[in-house]
Amino acid sequence: MFRVAVIGSGPSGVYTAQSLVEQETVPDIEVYVLDRLPCPYGLVRYGVAPDHEKIKSLQNNLRTVLEHPRVHFLGNVEVGAPGLGLKELREIFHAVVFCVGAAADRQLGIPGEDLPGSHPATGFVSWYSAHPDAAATRFSLAARSAIVIGVGNVAVDVARILSRGAAQLTTTDMPQGPLGALADSRVEDVWMVGRRGPSQAKFTTKELRELGSLPGTEVLVRPKELALDPAYREPGDLPAVRRRNIEVLRGWAERDGTERAVAGTTAAGATPPRRLHLRFFLRPVAMIGDAATGVRAVRFERTVPDGLGGVTGTGEYEDIQGQLVLRSVGYRGTPQPGLPFDEATGTVPHRAGRVLRNDAAHPGVYVAGWIKRGPTGVIGTNRPCAKETAASLLDDAAALAERTLTEDPVSALIRAGQQPVPWTGWLGIEAAEAAWGRRLGRGTVKLPDWAGLLEAARTGAEVV
Ligand SMILES: Cc1cc2nc3c(=O)[nH]c(=O)nc-3n(C[C@H](O)[C@H](O)[C@H](O)COP(=O)(O)OP(=O)(O)OC[C@H]3O[C@@H](n4cnc5c(N)ncnc54)[C@H](O)[C@@H]3O)c2cc1C
Ligand SMILES: NC(=O)c1ccc[n+]([C@@H]2O[C@H](COP(=O)([O-])OP(=O)(O)OC[C@H]3O[C@@H](n4cnc5c(N)ncnc54)[C@H](OP(=O)(O)O)[C@@H]3O)[C@@H](O)[C@H]2O)c1
Repeated sequence: MFRVAVIGSGPSGVYTAQSLVEQETVPDIEVYVLDRLPCPYGLVRYGVAPDHEKIKSLQNNLRTVLEHPRVHFLGNVEVGAPGLGLKELREIFHAVVFCVGAAADRQLGIPGEDLPGSHPATGFVSWYSAHPDAAATRFSLAARSAIVIGVGNVAVDVARILSRGAAQLTTTDMPQGPLGALADSRVEDVWMVGRRGPSQAKFTTKELRELGSLPGTEVLVRPKELALDPAYREPGDLPAVRRRNIEVLRGWAERDGTERAVAGTTAAGATPPRRLHLRFFLRPVAMIGDAATGVRAVRFERTVPDGLGGVTGTGEYEDIQGQLVLRSVGYRGTPQPGLPFDEATGTVPHRAGRVLRNDAAHPGVYVAGWIKRGPTGVIGTNRPCAKETAASLLDDAAALAERTLTEDPVSALIRAGQQPVPWTGWLGIEAAEAAWGRRLGRGTVKLPDWAGLLEAARTGAEVV
């Protein structure tokens, strides 16, 4: 028996488990997938937007791996908690693969960033996704104007959720609290602001295009801002995704040659209740407001292309009024107890997935996913990344298998102070969420807090 612990049940953890059990070099392998949450799937459950049901359904593919007879899911197991560090894990398992993602937010480092009303997008996403760590969070959507800083896909997600009416989200698994807040939302203007030009925006075309078909929302772009970008005028040399983005933005700009370009599905002549402004070449320099009233505006400096893919400031400033600010400027990995950490990239140093300490491989310890590569890439990107790590581990397996392990992992984890939720516990949570949704007259609705999840896991595990 060769035992591996995979820490984290997001895409990289599940794809690692899959690569480890779908091979014949080490046939007697057993993989334990441990997660600090009682629920599996990482950001597929707690990041992918609720209105993206098709992507969410990837959970069904991940599920088949976690139901493999030689894969054992154990939720509610926090690696790094007292009594369960790398040393203890190495006593229970021959090898440990860290697939813990990159859940922290990046900072802008500008004055006023922490004023009331200014939040990292990570917190907003966790709130509408019912992450149990966000159970006490409240977002009042009393603001008339909301500003999203950043033009990546997460920025598009949060701008879209702010712009969509609650009526369109009732069929999703969004929990009741955020759904109610969106139903009461007074937000009329959403601004999504990039510090560089449209040809350098990180969003992908499908996600951008979707913004143009939100009922009751008009999308506004400023032709003058688009034209500032040399690649916007001559998009021929851009990579395909960037060229397609430009085509979409052009389509919107050319509908109306003035400052306003209107998309959306509002009946002609009607005033849409919401406007979504896409702005470029504006870099945030300060948040304006005070502790009593909260943020009132964001001050941006106008930028121009520097010819090298970056921008330079012009010394011209523009204040955009907004009482809610979501800073969507990327995620960041956090140091893992007992592992080396590269502060500059927020990742664990590695070679082909083998953790490196002082440039030498740390025997039996591996990484995959965002903690290995940094917080970029879609779900599918984690598959080859996990495969590479699994291949390194399998190459090392013969040497690592020399140790004889006696204690059953579940007993050892309990002895280490953990209370693991087994797969049947997760099935209990699924059943409770389906039942809760039925009671509300909706489909499945997520349980948003630790107590509810653990209770459902406990009673579910007894029934299933
Ligand atoms: C808001 C958002 C939306 C996204 N939407 C899409 C999308 O629509 N389509 C798409 O293709 N990609 C999307 N992505 C990207 C995709 O989610 C990531 O590529 C992917 O989830 C990264 O996988 P991962 O396994 O490295 O990390 P995660 O998915 O973050 O998984 C990490 C897991 O580790 C667990 N963990 C962390 N610390 C510990 C610990 N100490 N002990 C035990 N367990 C621990 C966590 O609970 C979590 O379950 C999105 C990303 C974000 C941030
Ligand atoms: N539907 C989907 O497929 C989907 C949905 C969500 C997320 N994801 C994926 O998840 C990953 C993470 O997404 P993300 O949106 O968090 O990150 P991202 O793609 O890296 O985008 C981050 C954005 O923040 C901006 N930014 C960074 N620092 C800034 C600063 N100091 N001031 C102003 N702007 C700043 C960046 O601008 P610069 O480019 O100028 O640095 C960029 O526009 C991506 O790979 C994404 O594709 C996919």
